[in-house]
Amino acid sequence: MTEKPRGVVITGAGGDLGRVLCDSFLADGLTVFAADVKPPPPREHLVPVQTDVTDRAAMEALARQAGQHSRLEAWINGAGLFVVCPVLKADDADWHRIMAVNLTGTYIGCSVALPVLAEAGGGRIVNIGSISGQVGGVGAHPAYGASKAGIHALTKTYASEGARYGVLCNAIAPGLLEAGMVREFGEAQRDKLARGAALRRLGTLAEIAHVIRFLADPANTYMTGAIVPVNGGAYMPS
Ligand SMILES: NC(=O)c1ccc[n+]([C@@H]2O[C@H](COP(=O)([O-])OP(=O)(O)OC[C@H]3O[C@@H](n4cnc5c(N)ncnc54)[C@H](O)[C@@H]3O)[C@@H](O)[C@H]2O)c1
Repeated sequence: MTEKPRGVVITGAGGDLGRVLCDSFLADGLTVFAADVKPPPPREHLVPVQTDVTDRAAMEALARQAGQHSRLEAWINGAGLFVVCPVLKADDADWHRIMAVNLTGTYIGCSVALPVLAEAGGGRIVNIGSISGQVGGVGAHPAYGASKAGIHALTKTYASEGARYGVLCNAIAPGLLEAGMVREFGEAQRDKLARGAALRRLGTLAEIAHVIRFLADPANTYMTGAIVPVNGGAYMPS
């Protein structure tokens, strides 16, 4: 019997960070289940899966598919919405939309990933939080930071529960990146935010992907429930 290939599920795989992550895992020979409402095109060892992370039935089907066709070792909850909006103009419709994708979508991702990774004998869940979930922020809809703070708490819950099944769950909390979401900000605002980091620049997608790969790797055996700040020193929690 041929052994199943190593597998990883990435939600938000069609986005800026998702594409970099797909390339990184593919380069190491994993089969990537690339889930997004707009998934990337198929290529060798990349299986595009059109999925809305708020749709539990679709996410369960994704978990089944990944578990059947690979030795699933990691699940990255990367799908997210960012809405630039003055706080005083924030509306309820955007609140519900952002919370649904960022928080409920990550919750559903964790809840379908845990049993399938447990069945595989253990694995890694990586959630994408944000510095906004730690310090709030005024450039984005207030739901953004609230949803990311919720993701940080979810991460700790799934780390506590996952431990007995060999499932380690961590989150990264990136600062502002040179990527899709930040283009929503004007140049002056981006410069100001870059100056606020000790390293005096925005992060790159490769720098974020590098930390995600560490957290998702089977070699990470003792780090769970962590919210890892990757922000150039813009915020240094103790
Ligand atoms: N770019 C930044 O500065 C920054 C900073 C901190 C955290 N993050 C987080 O990193 C992650 C990726 O960000 P990015 O910069 O690549 O953004 P992006 O907009 O390029 O990618 C997000 C992806 O999520 C997908 N998506 C949206 N709603 C979905 C849904 N309901 N179901 C499935 N997929 C859906 C989009 O189609 C898109 O491909 C997000 O969680 C974001 O909040 C980004």
